[in-house]
Amino acid sequence: MADNISQAGLVSSCQHDIHSQLERCVRRHLDTPWLQPLHRPSVVAYALLRSRNLLTKDKSFILDSGCGTGNSTRYLAARHPGQLVIGVDRSRVRLGRSGMADPSVVDGLMQHHNCVLVRAELATFWRLLVRDGLAPDKHFLLYPNPWPKVAHLKRRWHGHPVFPSLLALGGEIEMRCNWEVYAMEFARAASLATGQSIVAKPYRSQEGISPFERKYMQRRQKLFAVTVPQDVLAAFRSFVTAGQPAL
Ligand SMILES: C[S@@+](CC[C@H](N)C(=O)[O-])C[C@H]1O[C@@H](n2cnc3c(N)ncnc32)[C@H](O)[C@@H]1O
Repeated sequence: MADNISQAGLVSSCQHDIHSQLERCVRRHLDTPWLQPLHRPSVVAYALLRSRNLLTKDKSFILDSGCGTGNSTRYLAARHPGQLVIGVDRSRVRLGRSGMADPSVVDGLMQHHNCVLVRAELATFWRLLVRDGLAPDKHFLLYPNPWPKVAHLKRRWHGHPVFPSLLALGGEIEMRCNWEVYAMEFARAASLATGQSIVAKPYRSQEGISPFERKYMQRRQKLFAVTVPQDVLAAFRSFVTAGQPAL
């Protein structure tokens, strides 16, 4: 069967276990600084957040990376009324469906109480947060694109050159997905980078907090979660900012 996401939403792939090149790929990214230029429109979106004092060192925040239509961002904001919850996605179409603003203003910020949606490329947005020493309390990565083709390892977040920055960003990471291989790889990559034991676990819940999560739950698919604790990431951050070349 071809590598793709099947009609039922189940990931279909020729890859049934951790990619043979994962360790090499992660180690290379840890050993080599990533010098790709920042994505300009995302720098502008980030600067807007900073200029409105939404992102400052004295305010804690929760990050919902790849928030899609922002449903999970709003859910988290309602459950954490004292904290700012920032949803980031690059898709104008998905953000335009958030119902938070006229789609024509999607390129600015959309804010409702403590919930903010921003259109930006995550690989740039994360690097800017690390540069400015701004760490979320919690960082959700809900159902990232699985990139199921064997040749697409480097597009998965743990195989991407931005992975060291994603870890150095800190906060407690919670990554959820419906492809066990992706979850196992993410956990293995986080273990390799931090030297700690990080494992993928089955994820069960009564309620779905994002459209993809609800869709998979309705279809009774197995879900997986990887949690990387805040203290493990804080130690990784100190290690890399003390002179290691990973960022
Ligand atoms: C499978 S959807 C999941 C959406 C949502 N989290 C959910 O659970 O319903 C993945 C989302 O990640 C976004 N995304 C993928 N790569 C991205 C990138 N490099 N920068 C920003 N957003 C990205 C896509 O636009 C898409 O909305």
